[in-house]
Amino acid sequence: MLLGNDDWWRDAVVYQVYPRSFADANGDGTGDLQGVRGRLDYLARLGVDAIWLSPFYTSPLADGGYDVADYRDVDPRFGTLADFDALVAEAHGKDIRVIVDLVPNHSSDQHPWFQAGLRDRYIFRDEPNDWESIFGGPAWTRVEDGQWYLHLFAPEQPDLNWDHPEVRAEFRDILRFWLERGVDGFRVDVAHGMVKAAGLPDVGAKDGPQAEMLGDEQVPYFDQDGVHDIYREWRPILDSYPGGRMAVAEAWVSSPERLARYIGPDELHQAFNFEFMMADFHAKSFRTVIEKSLAEAELVGAPTTWVLSNHDKPRHVTRHGSLARARAATLLMLALPGSAYLYNGEELGLPEVLDLPDELRQDPAFLRRGESRDGCRVPIPWTSGPGCGWRDPWLPIPPEWTALSAEVQEDDPGSTLNLYRAALRLRRRHPALGGGTLSWLDSPEDVLAVERHPGLVVVLNTGEGPVPPGVAGEVLLSSGPLAADGSIPPDTAVWIQRSGSVAGD
Ligand code: NOJ
Repeated sequence: MLLGNDDWWRDAVVYQVYPRSFADANGDGTGDLQGVRGRLDYLARLGVDAIWLSPFYTSPLADGGYDVADYRDVDPRFGTLADFDALVAEAHGKDIRVIVDLVPNHSSDQHPWFQAGLRDRYIFRDEPNDWESIFGGPAWTRVEDGQWYLHLFAPEQPDLNWDHPEVRAEFRDILRFWLERGVDGFRVDVAHGMVKAAGLPDVGAKDGPQAEMLGDEQVPYFDQDGVHDIYREWRPILDSYPGGRMAVAEAWVSSPERLARYIGPDELHQAFNFEFMMADFHAKSFRTVIEKSLAEAELVGAPTTWVLSNHDKPRHVTRHGSLARARAATLLMLALPGSAYLYNGEELGLPEVLDLPDELRQDPAFLRRGESRDGCRVPIPWTSGPGCGWRDPWLPIPPEWTALSAEVQEDDPGSTLNLYRAALRLRRRHPALGGGTLSWLDSPEDVLAVERHPGLVVVLNTGEGPVPPGVAGEVLLSSGPLAADGSIPPDTAVWIQRSGSVAGD
């Protein structure tokens, strides 16, 4: 085990495991921690530095586990604490770190506090205000005696009252509980939530649903100054454990300046930069986002993060319109300075499943708002046999996914799986990749050309016709076949080692 280096997260490749959909060891149709354990060799071969486990805690799964009933235990569907410990030990033995999800904004309505009627730990009022749930509809639900409780997400996810000292103490203790078990960090869910504006003022007049304002405007339930006190309480706890324990924020805020406030030596280490995920497949759009992100990183004082897919957004094969484009966008992302977060299945080039029957959809957002995130949560196809290695999976796997299975892609040198492996291998070895700086090279409008120092050039062609690479050198990796004359076809990215510069290996 080589783990060390407290700054590991700065240029890490972190692989998000959605446990319900990743791998099923006990054959009940729901993925589990033993399933993850059984795939650690696969992940080591892929070349990731860490895994981030989406929630596996005791939960009624009203929101896929982001509704936690017991923050210190594993849901029986996912396994046991002993399974968790074994997973961490084995992952560390293979030099893979483990980050867990922390869900502090809300608990499940099945949490013992809510069940015991400890209303002071939640946000109860005699009258609701005009706040809307992110999943659609009002953010308030009425209980028998006429009071209302706040839930910024589903009614099964009551918001916790962070003004209550017991709530604060409880979460400090939960942090320690998982740190003691050896986790390397936390992904903080709704990290801009928790603290609400005093008096819970109305949002007031607006043109559309409040959910559409998020990230553009200040709302009284997100990104309040008081949330930073919580992180200032947490940071010394993280720092008191050896080995570089970190936290990455899922924070949707209205400006880079506001995001920067979450990051620093006395708060969190990183925040997701979702801008890259929102960019169109066009050189100009990518360049705008990359420049903005790097400026943001400067402001924040920490390298940025890059994300193309996660469990909340349509997979990037579908978003960008083709597998070729997804592969090209991936090569661009993996060459950028900072850390990259991958989402399970993107290394197989999985598309979004668009035609799930409505009655099988389980996302609470679908029930309330008609928008479903189930299509990116379909279980991972492992084998080419019937069911792709799953028996009665919780969401059906499209039969054509046998062709995309890890087994089929394993020995195909042109497979997306092998493209990811090659890219991650090079990223580890090449001194220009991971951290560092970049400079822009002159290029036509539809082409993005970036030089990472020393001497690695990334060229992405988003135009309609082939383009010459523009620099002389050896092609280290290409997202698709190049033309016989070496030109780069549309929807293709290449990594080129400039002639005269020193390659990494
Ligand atoms: C963000 C998570 O990524 C999403 O899946 C979840 O529904 C909400 N937070 C609420 O916890």
